[in-house]
Amino acid sequence: MVKTTVSIIKADVGSLAGHTVVPQPLIDVANRKLAEAKETGLINSFYVFNAGDDLELLMTHFKGESNEEIHRLAWDTFVAAAEKAKKLKLYGAGQDLLSDAFSGNVRGMGPGVAEMEFEERRSDPMIVFAADKTEPAAFNYLLYKIFADPFNTAGLVIDPRMADGFEFEVLDAIGHKSVTLKTPEESYSLLALIGTTERYMISKIRRAEDGEIAAVSSTTKLSLIAGKYVGKDDPVCLVRGQSGFPAMGEITAPFLHTYLVAGWMRGSHWGPFMPVGLKDSRCTVFDGPPRIVALGIQVADGKLASDDQGRPLIVDIFADPGFDLARREALELAAALRRMGEFEPARLGPGAMEYTTLPQVLKKLEPRFKKV
Ligand code: F6R
Ligand code: MG
Ligand code: MG
Repeated sequence: MVKTTVSIIKADVGSLAGHTVVPQPLIDVANRKLAEAKETGLINSFYVFNAGDDLELLMTHFKGESNEEIHRLAWDTFVAAAEKAKKLKLYGAGQDLLSDAFSGNVRGMGPGVAEMEFEERRSDPMIVFAADKTEPAAFNYLLYKIFADPFNTAGLVIDPRMADGFEFEVLDAIGHKSVTLKTPEESYSLLALIGTTERYMISKIRRAEDGEIAAVSSTTKLSLIAGKYVGKDDPVCLVRGQSGFPAMGEITAPFLHTYLVAGWMRGSHWGPFMPVGLKDSRCTVFDGPPRIVALGIQVADGKLASDDQGRPLIVDIFADPGFDLARREALELAAALRRMGEFEPARLGPGAMEYTTLPQVLKKLEPRFKKV
């Protein structure tokens, strides 16, 4: 049976009024480019949206993961959108396109990628998460809650198809290596790693029973690619739901509350993760707070399930009042943190600050220090 691939590829190629939002003309460029690719049969369906200042290309196709044609399509789309952004003199035009020429795969070139190939079940519901003003490790807490915490996911206790637990692939972004840990047996060891969000990030989760892919997230670290601060690595993540995977409501339940993630303002501050609907997907207060959108989709016969006009059917999950409590908590926490200004722990620790513009400021002071 032919397998379906879901790819989400994203980049910040310019935004309106600073790092606030992707304006409609860039969304229009991306829609045009992907519509052409659908016409030629390269992709089967697509949905373009934004997470704050990040342009998000959600695509389904039969080409598999890391496919050169698909990645070239995403790259060309970002280049076209960046050109539009340059014409409009938008802010940070072309920011995440770290190379002048495409070389086969967008990984390592700036854009963030999450892709999964699978044999479709009778029905395949999924959630697409996309966040702005944070980093891939922001999903560590979320994914642990969904796939390893029985106080969040009742299915871990009640559904026999999840009884064997899940395998978590964890990337060490600094050591350039990865390790796979299995829950529930190794959940303490897993937490020992992924609690260090500065270094470790969950890249993939499989169901232990049969190795079936359950979740993937982007793992781009722009600063490690470029060797300097070039904005945060605003992440994306795909999670499969239902029938032996966590229910859609178990995937969203962690967002009854907010939690803190790194990357707010200048990639330099902790901020409360605020779940928002697409209409509120713009980063305003202190360039934030870090925001996350969640789209519920159904994958059907290689496509996003669509209406009769071919428009994908999308549930804008966080637009629901069910997430009002998390939003209120997020704003209260945001206010408390901002009262602290540049004092830790509102500001990130020195390790993370090395990848910001702070070291340039500190360097100037170096000659003035006297030995004691
Ligand atoms: C961008 C971001 C923003 C910027 C800030 C300063 O991803 O997080 O908070 O870092 O707006 O931007 P510059 O240095 O471009 O003026
Ligand atoms: Mg930006
Ligand atoms: Mg961004």
